[in-house]
Amino acid sequence: MQDIRTRAVHVVNEPPGGGSSRPLSVPLVQSSAFAFGSADELARAMGGPDGEYVYSRRGNPTVRALERTLAGLEGGASAIAFASGMGAISGVLLALLRPGDQVIAQRCLYGGTYAALNDLSERYGVEVAHISGDGPEEFEALAGPRTRLLVLETIANPTGQVPDLPGLLAAARRRGVTSAVDNSLASPVLCRPIELGADIVLHSTTKYLAGHSDVLGGAAVFADDALRREVWPRTVELGACADPFAAWLTLRGIATLPLRMREHCANAGLLAERLAGHPAVSAVHWPWLGTHPSYARARSVLSGGGGLLSFELEGGREAGRAFVEAVRVARLALSLGGVETLVTHPASTSHRELDEGALARAGIGAGLVRMSVGIEDPEDLWQDTEQALRSSFGLTK
Ligand SMILES: Cc1ncc(COP(=O)(O)O)c(C=O)c1O
Repeated sequence: MQDIRTRAVHVVNEPPGGGSSRPLSVPLVQSSAFAFGSADELARAMGGPDGEYVYSRRGNPTVRALERTLAGLEGGASAIAFASGMGAISGVLLALLRPGDQVIAQRCLYGGTYAALNDLSERYGVEVAHISGDGPEEFEALAGPRTRLLVLETIANPTGQVPDLPGLLAAARRRGVTSAVDNSLASPVLCRPIELGADIVLHSTTKYLAGHSDVLGGAAVFADDALRREVWPRTVELGACADPFAAWLTLRGIATLPLRMREHCANAGLLAERLAGHPAVSAVHWPWLGTHPSYARARSVLSGGGGLLSFELEGGREAGRAFVEAVRVARLALSLGGVETLVTHPASTSHRELDEGALARAGIGAGLVRMSVGIEDPEDLWQDTEQALRSSFGLTK
């Protein structure tokens, strides 16, 4: 198989209608519907996910090029693209789960996924059990005849925890439990969960895949096409389908994904090491840092440490707030995975409802700063970080 750098550039492009030349860039087919010459042809095209294009909620050539490209990058059989990462996650959960089913999920999950699972539990009678993800034993102890789905994340946000993917995915397979891994933070450049035994890979393509903070998107990649065929009719009902222009922008981003990931990882590694030696910082969470609890696992399942790191400031809540307001190169914004460095202070924003005890249980200190490290010059980023640390440290004296 070709290297991922080659596959990212030579995206899957359908042949044009006639002649031998074809556009290098995937054409943007910005059309909601497709016209037919006869009622029979239209009826035939309504048959399933791979028929002719009928209506863009069911399928669109630009969106399909993205789906095929994502399946290729992840080593899957096929994929469905969605309007957002949450569209993909909700689509897969709603398609596969019924009342009475059990889901076993990693405890440290993206907040939106956690909330979607809680909702399924409270409103639709799906039982949700949480595990640390550090080994297959907890899964084995909880799994039973009603267990339908195992939900994991390659790299958890913001702690950087890397679960025991090979052990957990093998255990799920042995018991006939479908596994879904959110690979948004690693991207297929750092990890391909299907190669480790996953059935479904989920993405917020909003993040590293699209990579430029200008488009929302999501995807589910399937190891076996039979699973896509099972999920597809429900996702057509849900309607969280990818818009062709969003798919086009995502394909444009994917061409440089391997280059960007290299820079994200290198910059994050440099900042993580320097932050670890700084007197204003009490802890640094980056999975490829030797002191991280997931370090050994992260080295074995990831080919880089990723671009997301977080660090705890000695000065607590006030220092965290001061830091995110003091940065000059980095920007204070919620997302991650784009070319620009972004910082947030979870205790005063995304997790502001939690008191100190609840924050601690979620693994988030009051002085925790999350940084999505971009691809700027690393010394500019360090200078910016250092001056922001000085100002936040000054506050505590
Ligand atoms: C790991 C992870 N999964 C899913 C999502 C949801 O993606 P979207 O915002 O594209 O719906 C996010 C968003 O931050 C995320 O970090």
